[in-house]
Amino acid sequence: MAKMLQNCGVTSLIVAMTAISFLAAVENSYDLIAIACSKTPYYQLCESTLRNDPKSWDANLNGLTLIMLNSLSFRSNRTLDAINQFLKEKPELKVPLTNCLNLYSSVVNFFIVDAIKAANRSDIPLGQEYMYDSKKSIHDCENGFKPNPSPLGVANGINSDICDIAYNMFGLMNTTLIHS
Ligand SMILES: *[C@@H]1O[C@H](CO)[C@@H](O)[C@H](O)[C@H]1NC(C)=O
Ligand SMILES: *[C@@H]1O[C@H](CO)[C@@H](O)[C@H](O)[C@H]1NC(C)=O
Ligand SMILES: *[C@@H]1O[C@H](CO)[C@@H](O)[C@H](O)[C@H]1NC(C)=O
Repeated sequence: MAKMLQNCGVTSLIVAMTAISFLAAVENSYDLIAIACSKTPYYQLCESTLRNDPKSWDANLNGLTLIMLNSLSFRSNRTLDAINQFLKEKPELKVPLTNCLNLYSSVVNFFIVDAIKAANRSDIPLGQEYMYDSKKSIHDCENGFKPNPSPLGVANGINSDICDIAYNMFGLMNTTLIHS
C-alpha cells in the first residue's frame, strides 16, 4: 500500500512536470498568437497584425502586446497623415479635422507611449485605461464629422478595433491562458 502510494506520488510528479513543460512550450510557441487572439473580439485583425511582424515568432504575451501597440502607433501616424492631407483638400471640414488632429496627437504622443510602458511592466489597469482613452479619442474624432460623412471612417474603425484587441491582451497578461 505504502509502495503504491509512493508510486502514485511519483506519477503525479511526472504528470505535473509534463504539464509545466507543456505550458512552457505553449507560452513559447507560435500558437500563443492564436490563443491570445481567440480571446479578443477581432481574431483575424489580431492574428494578421501579429504575424505581420517577424518579432512575434518568439514573443511572449507582453511582447505581442507591444507589437499590437506599435501597430496602433503606425496606423495612427498614417491617419494623422491623412488628416493633414484632408485639411488641404477639404477646407469645409476644417473644424472636425482639426479636432481629429488634436485627438490623434494625444493618442500617438501620450496614450500609446504610456501604454507601451505599462505593457513592459504588466501594469494591466493602466494599460487598459490608455486603450480605453485611445478608443474614446478615435470615436470622438469620428463623431465630430456628423452629420457629414467622415472621410476617416475606415481608418477610425480599424484603429478602434485595435484598441479593443490591445485592451483584451492587457487583460490576459497575468492569467494562465491555457486554463481559461
Ligand atoms: C508615430 O509618430 C510618433 C511621433 O512622430 C513617433 O514617435 C512614433 O515612433 C511613430 N510610430 C511608429 C510606429 O512609427
Ligand atoms: C522595458 O523594460 C526594460 C527593463 O525593465 C528596459 O530595458 C526596456 O527599455 C523597456 N522597454 C520599453 C519599450 O519601455
Ligand atoms: C501582473 O504581474 C506583474 C509581474 O508579474 C505585477 O507587477 C503586476 O502588478 C500584476 N498585475 C496585476 C493586475 O495583478
